[in-house]
Amino acid sequence: DDRRLTAPDIRARKGGTPIAMLTAYHAHTAGLVDRHCDAILVGDSLGMVMHGLETTVPVTLDMMILQGLAVMRGSRRALVVVDMPFGSYEASKEQAFLSAARVVKETGCGAIKMEGGQRMAETIAFLVQRGIPVMGHVGLTPQSINTLGSFRAQGRDAADWGPIEADAKAVAEAGAFAMVIEAVAEPLAAKITREVRIPTIGIGASAACDGQVLVLEDMLGLSPRVPKFVKRYGDLGPAIERAVAAYAEEVRTRAFPGTDNVYPLKKSG
Ligand code: KIV
Ligand code: NA
Repeated sequence: DDRRLTAPDIRARKGGTPIAMLTAYHAHTAGLVDRHCDAILVGDSLGMVMHGLETTVPVTLDMMILQGLAVMRGSRRALVVVDMPFGSYEASKEQAFLSAARVVKETGCGAIKMEGGQRMAETIAFLVQRGIPVMGHVGLTPQSINTLGSFRAQGRDAADWGPIEADAKAVAEAGAFAMVIEAVAEPLAAKITREVRIPTIGIGASAACDGQVLVLEDMLGLSPRVPKFVKRYGDLGPAIERAVAAYAEEVRTRAFPGTDNVYPLKKSG
């Protein structure tokens, strides 16, 4: 069976084998992730990773669509989920539908993701009823950095659990097919996972979640600063730097290009 996974396929994984998800923003990295993961997130974290921004707030719909298209071209099997960037969906459910429809039509992706719990429930229902699968995102919502003040784990005091649980339940009841739970105290993430009927995909959350997601460059060791919840599965930063240094040295000493890397004249007669 060679077809691409769908939002309903991911939804059906609740309580089963955990869902493996990573971000990708490029065709070639998408291809690598596609061979091993169930879902690929074209996250608005591309603002930091690709563009050197401090936060995700300046990321635009055009940036998301361009990278979403690249990831769709580079993958065949995984469900591709594209993040809705700040300012493209919060004003009204109609604004959200028009923005999300552009993403789905112009990239061919199978789902979109949007941050927010109770406040976004009506919008999530509006999109899902009109044919756009929505992945929710609760707990730490980085697009709200300017009102939050800092990127801090949520629910580390059990007195604060109520609104976070209410957010998760609202997203599930609105018809989302899954939800990201970001930077939430472990027992709360586990409790939410038991309480909602859709898969939870943790990042800085709990091993009890129905799946996990990380930013690819963070887990590969390509990002200079990473949150505590990132586990490094690779150390590509130093490996790339060694390759770049060797190249620059060979250029300067004329060791590169060698005879294998240039075109001699064709042999005549
Ligand atoms: O933008 C992103 O990469 C994300 C994940 C961290 C969940 O939203
Ligand atoms: Na994001």
